[in-house]
Amino acid sequence: MSRDGSWGRYHGDHVAWLEQQLASWHGLPFALTCCSGTVAVELALRGLKIQPGDEVLLAGYDFSGNFRCIEALGAVPVLVDIDPENWSLAADRVEQAIGRATRAIVVSHLHGGRADMRTLTDVAARHDLQIVEDACQVPGAVVQGRPAGTWGDAGVLSFGGSKLLTAGRGGAVITKRADVHQRIKIQCERGNHAFPLSELQAAVLSPQVAKLPERNEIRRQRVGQLLAGLADLPGLHPVAQPSPGDQASYYKVAFRYESAHWSGWPRDQFLAAMQAEGVAIDVGFRGFLRRSRRRCRVGGELHHAQRAVDETVLLHHPVLLSDASIIEQIVAAFRKVAEHTVNGGSVG
Ligand SMILES: Cc1ncc(COP(=O)(O)O)c(C=O)c1O
Repeated sequence: MSRDGSWGRYHGDHVAWLEQQLASWHGLPFALTCCSGTVAVELALRGLKIQPGDEVLLAGYDFSGNFRCIEALGAVPVLVDIDPENWSLAADRVEQAIGRATRAIVVSHLHGGRADMRTLTDVAARHDLQIVEDACQVPGAVVQGRPAGTWGDAGVLSFGGSKLLTAGRGGAVITKRADVHQRIKIQCERGNHAFPLSELQAAVLSPQVAKLPERNEIRRQRVGQLLAGLADLPGLHPVAQPSPGDQASYYKVAFRYESAHWSGWPRDQFLAAMQAEGVAIDVGFRGFLRRSRRRCRVGGELHHAQRAVDETVLLHHPVLLSDASIIEQIVAAFRKVAEHTVNGGSVG
């Protein structure tokens, strides 16, 4: 961190340098930092000129803020099912959900999975829709040969307190489109940047960006070890592994917990048993299935989104940078709990 006081200014080199780093890492001409991933999603939608009354498709299972960002523009969220293998918006469900007012798609790469961006961008192009690609959970991932966040008309990153790149708070929009970039800049300019990332935050982030590939690689190795150790446990369905040429980035690692294979133990009981073993594991998002139909439209069956709400269990990333022996202990905890459920005993 520079000692010249530059971190404490309104305008300095740190934000500009970080934005340059973000743009060149993603191979895009524009990156704009802001105060959170949530605001980045909203700014991206504003950059795409989403208007009141427009419809925006998003997954029935997603980060809650994405629904609210669509509403913040006076637009209407349209819920689409997810692909049960990757926890993301199901590309083959989009077409049937499109209505006359549909203008855009918000798609998030979640829980170590990657959305089928190639198909989504094809569908979007056929129907003249724009895409916001939410890469908040997967910085550094490669999706079907391209950096996550670069398929959409706008990509979104988060630098929130729990994220793989963190300044406590923060976010960014990346884009190839000069018009989107310009519109967002105008949205932010209110005599000063209205939703800024500070110079101090940018100074904290720059070295993390440089370290991200190495850290992502360690996390991938640990997840490989974890999944190999759990492969023979039925009733624990992990997020899809990347195809050759792609790379995952793990903010969380998702499993579908199928209680029928755990002697009917409800998910909460399983989680409590795992937590008692010292494993930081938790539920996923609450999803939007119970949102009032006055607030959104449903674009088809939401069966897999409902299952994700009910069955997702997640390991959080910090453990993935720890020693391989810690992963062994986590595998052992899963096995111990599995044994107890089979034997009908309580876990102690
Ligand atoms: C998929 C997704 N999008 C957006 C966000 C919002 O990021 P922030 O916490 O920086 O507002 C999150 C945060 O967890 C997220 O998981």
